Amino acid sequence: MRESGSGPATVNEHVAHNARVWNYWLGGKDYYAVDRRVGDHVVGMYPAIREVARADRAFLGRAVRYLAGEAGIRQFLDIGTGLPTVENTHEVAQRIAPGSRIVYVDNDPVVLVHARALLTSSPEGATDYIDADVHDPDTILRAASETLDFTRPVAIMMLGILNFVPDTGRARAVVRRLLDAVPSGSHLAVTHPTLELGGAANAEAMRFWNENATPPITARSRAEVASFFEGTELLEPGIVSCARWRPETADGGAEPPEVAQFGAVGRKP
Ligand SMILES: C[S@@+](CC[C@H](N)C(=O)[O-])C[C@H]1O[C@@H](n2cnc3c(N)ncnc32)[C@H](O)[C@@H]1O
Repeated sequence: MRESGSGPATVNEHVAHNARVWNYWLGGKDYYAVDRRVGDHVVGMYPAIREVARADRAFLGRAVRYLAGEAGIRQFLDIGTGLPTVENTHEVAQRIAPGSRIVYVDNDPVVLVHARALLTSSPEGATDYIDADVHDPDTILRAASETLDFTRPVAIMMLGILNFVPDTGRARAVVRRLLDAVPSGSHLAVTHPTLELGGAANAEAMRFWNENATPPITARSRAEVASFFEGTELLEPGIVSCARWRPETADGGAEPPEVAQFGAVGRKP
């Protein structure tokens, strides 16, 4: 486990934090009263938010199963991990390929406290946790190289995290730096909130979040999300509501309802 050089961040129990509220929406138990209050207020304004959180986690499962299975990926860099929940990246990947190596990255002090639950690797594989900010990809890459071999393909998982980099050019530069560090055959998986699918209630709820909680969130258009995948080959079905990215519906089953979160996976050629 690696902590950033910036010293221990203190836990603020008086301001709602994304990792904890996300955990609350997912039905977890690692949150404070303020997180529940703000989380409930957002649900009141935009009830679909819980479905967004669940669909995002389900996308993670399907994407990792594809990556560890068909794509044969054995290394994962999961940035913006969130609090440990069921079916974390290493659990999904190591069920398919026990030798998988996973590095988790988050900058929330409560995630750091709970990170031990992420370090339960299979004996054949490895997991590590880095306390670092997504704005600092060099630090992330340096620390991750203790566990990952950057001469072999890596799946860069950025689920619900680029929305915490407010400047789109900066977010693009972070992704570019990470993609430049990995070889051909590596993949990029992204989920990202969007008002293109969310509508007015979603916009209002996001405004409320940005005035009452931290860190502030930035929604993006499909074109902006597409720009993160420049230099990769987007896998089918491209950039879609994450609920509709390769859904595991029975033959002939109806497509799942869209949620206001894009999901996509690209492959570095
Ligand atoms: C919406 S949660 C997503 C969790 C998980 N990836 C998922 O899809 O379920 C976003 C996570 O990003 C983390 N995060 C927010 N800003 C960050 C930053 N600047 N650097 C690193 N992590 C950050 C939060 O602490 C939170 O755990």
